[in-house]
Amino acid sequence: MKNRSKPVLFSAFTLFFLLALRSAAASSVAEEDEDEKEFDYIVGGDRGPTKWGEIKEEWEACGKGEMQSPIDLSSKRVRVIPKTGEIERSYKPSNASVKNRGHDIRLRWDKDSAGSITINGTVYYLQQCHWHSPSEHTIDGIRYALELHMVHTSLEPNVTNSTAVFGLLYKTGDADAFLDERQVGVIDPRGIVMGGRSYFNYVGSLTVPPCSEGVIWIINNEINNVSMNQVRLLRKAVKDDSEKNARPIQALNGREIRFFQPHHEKTSI
Ligand SMILES: *[C@@H]1O[C@H](CO)[C@@H](O)[C@H](O)[C@H]1NC(C)=O
Ligand SMILES: *[C@@H]1O[C@H](CO)[C@@H](O)[C@H](O)[C@H]1NC(C)=O
Ligand SMILES: *[C@@H]1O[C@H](CO)[C@@H](O)[C@H](O)[C@H]1NC(C)=O
Ligand SMILES: *[C@@H]1O[C@H](CO)[C@@H](O)[C@H](O)[C@H]1NC(C)=O
Ligand SMILES: *[C@@H]1O[C@H](CO)[C@@H](O)[C@H](O)[C@H]1NC(C)=O
Repeated sequence: MKNRSKPVLFSAFTLFFLLALRSAAASSVAEEDEDEKEFDYIVGGDRGPTKWGEIKEEWEACGKGEMQSPIDLSSKRVRVIPKTGEIERSYKPSNASVKNRGHDIRLRWDKDSAGSITINGTVYYLQQCHWHSPSEHTIDGIRYALELHMVHTSLEPNVTNSTAVFGLLYKTGDADAFLDERQVGVIDPRGIVMGGRSYFNYVGSLTVPPCSEGVIWIINNEINNVSMNQVRLLRKAVKDDSEKNARPIQALNGREIRFFQPHHEKTSI
């Protein structure tokens, strides 16, 4: 007998992508400016990562920026800070829509409705999450199977860094429950597993055009699990011919990488 749980997981995940395709077809007016084929991940291609900065004037930072993401999170370079730092998460279930943007699959919650994280007293509201495969950030040169980005923005007009991205890395193993989410409409961001309390923190950029800088990055140190089948389906759904959507590692240019680690948590980096 074959493993009986497999087809169930598969169909739930397939539903997720059918939804993705359907919502792409019914894309709203606000999203029409997102041309899915304006850039891609084909190394050496006309619209590949090394050419992004030349495609549009507004994308100049992709080529000339000096605080770009992703980077290698090298344990030799980090400054260890023996406390968690002031990050509080307060997410809640909210209506969301899925869109296949061609270069990734994005899940977007209704504006500012899915809760927030507070970094050093500044509130950043969760807007959307999307997936990259393989991972964009590497830890000590290791590239993982998948990376989830939870994108948050601050509504305070006087904040200099108005975007904060929480990144989670996944290695292949057990299936990830959040990716098998069946619910249509209301999606609970608390379903995203975030183990441990240690994380990397540095200032970088968006990893897709326009590659805007001043983005606060927080990368969880604990590696999550995702099944090979989930990664395969995610890669297939993305319309990029290279079937991967990870920007290459960018130069650190002297930036500081901090590693927040509570006293009681014994993690190795
Ligand atoms: C989701 O949207 C439906 C339909 O617009 C609404 O009835 C429901 O209250 C919403 N739920 C949440 C949690 O926002
Ligand atoms: C919060 O602010 C303090 C003081 O300015 C700073 O030392 C710390 O690194 C900040 N934490 C984060 C996560 O940015
Ligand atoms: C922004 O302004 C608000 C109220 O005007 C203030 O409470 C907050 O500390 C300010 N934040 C920064 C980063 O200056
Ligand atoms: C905000 O971004 C600037 C670069 O644009 C960086 O120098 C600064 O450290 C960032 N501030 C925080 C609190 O991350
Ligand atoms: C991932 O799977 C391993 C077993 O291979 C398990 O020890 C670990 O706790 C899992 N990680 C998370 C974040 O669930």
